Amino acid sequence: MKLAQVILAVMTTALTAQGAVTKEPFGTTPGGAAVEIYTLKSDAVEARIMTYGARIVSIKTADKTGKVADVVLGYKDFAGYTGDKNTYFGSIVGRYGNRIAHGKFSLDGKEYTLPLNDHGINTLHGGTVGFDSLIWTGKEIPGGVEMTLVSKDGDQGFPGTLTAHVKYTLQGGALKIDYTATTDKDTVLNLTNHSYFNLAGEGTGTILNQEIEIHADKFTPTDAGLIPTGVLAPVAGTPFDFTKPMVIGARIGDANDQLKMAGGYDHNWVLRGQNGVEKVAAKVHDPVSGRVLTVTTTQPGVQFYTGNFLDGSKTGPSGKAYAKNFGLCLETQHFPDSPNHPDFPTTELKPGQTMHSVTTFTFSVQK
Ligand code: BGC
Repeated sequence: MKLAQVILAVMTTALTAQGAVTKEPFGTTPGGAAVEIYTLKSDAVEARIMTYGARIVSIKTADKTGKVADVVLGYKDFAGYTGDKNTYFGSIVGRYGNRIAHGKFSLDGKEYTLPLNDHGINTLHGGTVGFDSLIWTGKEIPGGVEMTLVSKDGDQGFPGTLTAHVKYTLQGGALKIDYTATTDKDTVLNLTNHSYFNLAGEGTGTILNQEIEIHADKFTPTDAGLIPTGVLAPVAGTPFDFTKPMVIGARIGDANDQLKMAGGYDHNWVLRGQNGVEKVAAKVHDPVSGRVLTVTTTQPGVQFYTGNFLDGSKTGPSGKAYAKNFGLCLETQHFPDSPNHPDFPTTELKPGQTMHSVTTFTFSVQK
């Protein structure tokens, strides 16, 4: 081989392992703004990510027999996304992912008021127009795409102009999400990704027969509005104990107040290990397809949500309606309602500081 051929061969291999990136138009918002979609391809995974909500639209990967399926819930076209204000399929949620009690918090002695978009009681996923339904600016980077959003001072009631960057990069089976954010005034934030996974393939049925392991000895029980009471309760001896792999549906119907209130799992687990240091948060395994998802994160918590509010009214790309429990979310995060719990890890960000967190979704198969 000539030197040029060798270099080309090496470059091609690097590209395959790291992921090739292409960009296309995906749709137009009702307001007339253009939305683009980036396709990231590696030797193991194809992931599509659009600028609307910086959302993961699809993740295609093979099962133990080599059969490829899309393992996240979504829509066949862009219009599906703008017509859905409830599920947050694939999105980056913010400025504050998860709930803030009664839409109020105080910072530096000043009280802030947010929209009550969760049954008129609490704020959910950043308010009425959260980061999930804004258009981010996409930029191709090696092996991926960087999404940028500037949220103005006062956006949804939050103080400070916040600049957020979310980099998605694909290498082999690993889709890495790298978050950074800065502000020009003291503020609070909690950014996460809201993908619904179904390792058997979207639209194929519930996730109840799949197994999950969550690396946490405690969780944050909630009130009826799903706001943490403030207690860090041990999982031992409860249906919240996933320290060993367990079938998701095995205890979901138990006579347990926490499960009854949420209609299943919709809780934050307090991860083992250190806040700010990357560790395994959870592993999901589908025994039928053999697909495995490993979630690592620097965040202190993860919201494990079993798609309790899916009700058959949304239909995915395969044409199948998504019924209750057809997908699960693993939203790596700071704890819900942290601005009102000074003893929880802080979600405050000040000018001059940079918030940085990393979460990686790695796909593999177990034969
Ligand atoms: C919440 C659920 C909520 C869902 C919205 C999850 O993060 O914990 O309670 O219904 O998002 O799709």
